[in-house]
Amino acid sequence: MKIIAGNWKMNLSLEEAIFLSENITSSKKNEIILFPPSLYALKVKEIVSEKNIKVGVQNIFYEDFGAYTGEISCMMVKSSKLDYVLIGHSERRKYFFEDDIIINKKLKSAIKHGLKVILCVGETLEERKIGNHFEVVKNQVLSSIEGIDNFNSIAIAYEPVWAIGTGINAKPEDANEMHKFIKDIVNVKILYGGSVNEKNAYELLSQEYIDGLLIGGASLNYISFNKIIEISENI
Ligand code: PGA
Repeated sequence: MKIIAGNWKMNLSLEEAIFLSENITSSKKNEIILFPPSLYALKVKEIVSEKNIKVGVQNIFYEDFGAYTGEISCMMVKSSKLDYVLIGHSERRKYFFEDDIIINKKLKSAIKHGLKVILCVGETLEERKIGNHFEVVKNQVLSSIEGIDNFNSIAIAYEPVWAIGTGINAKPEDANEMHKFIKDIVNVKILYGGSVNEKNAYELLSQEYIDGLLIGGASLNYISFNKIIEISENI
């Protein structure tokens, strides 16, 4: 079973989010997950629940409740009957200064509340240029999972920062090599993310160690997203 996840980031009006949710097709074979802005998550869940599509949030704070203005917790996500949480996306690391210590706390909170997690890791262009990418990703993975011994509810998304939103996806064989490297550290499903579209999805999904895709831009258009779902059905 492959995982096809759409990360809508901070995009779409409520009307547009409803339209998109109504038009996304279900899969008989694979797991489809949507990560809308959290304000829309319950509405999206209501729309797609009949279609066996899972819904998650793009971020959480690690405390359960309290004086943390603007945050939502895993307890809230769980009590809203949502399924997934995305943790450690590179945009969270870059714009909101999340480091591996924070990410580790978030991961522990998600596991405590029985949520499924997609943990994001990936190197920057500078790190790849100097050949440091394996070391960087290894450190991100190891520090994020420190103190965790049950990986049943975790998947990892390898998202090279230089590939996100740039139109330049990692070469499928390079992504595959990194996925194998990560799987040797922790044996979970590994998704690829970074400029995935309906043109490169087949080749990426055909790689031995690519267990799914985390899609940003192309998940905002139901025609492209459905096409990628269709491609995943035929792998
Ligand atoms: P992209 O984003 O598909 O627009 O490159 C992927 C992501 O950030 O999850």
